[in-house]
Amino acid sequence: MASKNKTTWFCSSCGCESPKWMGRCPSCGEWNTMVEAPSASPRKGEARHSSSETQPRHLNEIEFGPEQRLSLSNPELDRILGGGIVPGSLVLLAGEPGIGKSTMSLQIPLQAAGLKTLYVSGEESARQVKMRAERLGGDASDCIIYCETSIDSIIEQAQAIMPSLVIVDSVQTMYCESVESTAGSVSQIREVTARLLRFAKDSSVPVILIGHITKDGYIAGPKVLEHIVDVVLQFEGENRGSYRILRSIKNRFGSTSELAVFEMTGSGLRAVSNPSELLVPMHGQDLSGTAVCAMLDGTRAFLFEVQALVSSAVYGTAQRSATGFDTRRLNMLLAVLEKRAGFRLGAKDVFLNMAGGLKISDPACDLAVIAAILSSNFDCSIPSDVCFAAEVGLSGEIRPVAQTDRRVIEASRLGYRKIYVSAFTPEMEKTEGIEQIRVADVAELVKKLFA
Ligand code: TYD
Ligand code: MG
Repeated sequence: MASKNKTTWFCSSCGCESPKWMGRCPSCGEWNTMVEAPSASPRKGEARHSSSETQPRHLNEIEFGPEQRLSLSNPELDRILGGGIVPGSLVLLAGEPGIGKSTMSLQIPLQAAGLKTLYVSGEESARQVKMRAERLGGDASDCIIYCETSIDSIIEQAQAIMPSLVIVDSVQTMYCESVESTAGSVSQIREVTARLLRFAKDSSVPVILIGHITKDGYIAGPKVLEHIVDVVLQFEGENRGSYRILRSIKNRFGSTSELAVFEMTGSGLRAVSNPSELLVPMHGQDLSGTAVCAMLDGTRAFLFEVQALVSSAVYGTAQRSATGFDTRRLNMLLAVLEKRAGFRLGAKDVFLNMAGGLKISDPACDLAVIAAILSSNFDCSIPSDVCFAAEVGLSGEIRPVAQTDRRVIEASRLGYRKIYVSAFTPEMEKTEGIEQIRVADVAELVKKLFA
């Protein structure tokens, strides 16, 4: 009897693999997310790697020369990648539609002189790419545009041209003839990515692959992609705002704690080398409901403004809404203020906004959020030379955060005179020009800040 074509089931939400269909994913618990895909075993006639390459070897015998990296002539992007792109690596550039993935990737060949790039577009026509390139400016002499969606043709062309870099926009539009399903399905995405990976490894040409992610943050279709590629860079930001954060969430060749801020301008993305200067208030006057947080994202400290608005609830139930901040965390902080510090916020609407359209997950932001809410509630402004960096616990205690010293230094550099930190922060050296105010709980914060 001829053996059946083996298939596997994948959760389109978390990428969990299963040998049979299931109604509910055992890993992430989502319902109806299992989709069928051919299993990854090599097909008949497909060459396997030669056995000499896969012999077990002693770690000491493995040669290790200085790593060669290719600069993309974009210092911020190079830094995130860990000092340039590694030859033969497959980099996934993920983000919501419209955030600037195509713009950023087209800017690479336009800015990097002498970097011969094959830019494959499955989403836009050559004319559209040209129009975008005109808008972005730069030198287009080393950029080859290829509008195609068949991965076989793309790899054929890439092998013939042998560029220094291949950019594929986007994985969801590419298809492989040998897989029977529509472009964008799990099995197509997996196969397209696997083909590109093989091309990158065989030719040592780095490949940047663009992938859309859905609103809830999943790389559309399969998260399986994340396991296959070497590096995952993710674009974040509110589409309304002009700032975008590029974060490395997986990097086989560098650290994942790197982040860069870009600004979308009329002529493409511009790196913001000093984010603090853009994200803190320029108005120069004290307004109620705003507080500045010294946050640390990756290895970088920067300051930004938290804005809160507290008003009496017009309707029966109070509204809580947060932009760029976790609503559950906001609810928790409000509960702490009610229970531990006696503020009657139950009958108040609370709106919270992070400046610049940033999405913040650093717990050090808690203290600034509480300060901004209280400031709006009392209608009493916080002096503009004050900032905050501490976490708030469930019993109202103010907890220390990682690398407080770096935050203090950044705050001082930007002209802040006072920083509120946890009373439990380990003793650190005094930084000139800035006073550290240590607070142990929410009640003490209120006393020191609004007395
Ligand atoms: P794009 O790179 O097409 O997004 P993606 O590939 O991630 O879907 O960016 C789209 C947005 O960027 C679009 O709304 C227009 C805006 N934009 C600018 O503001 N300035 C520019 O120079 C360019 C090229 C785009
Ligand atoms: Mg695009």
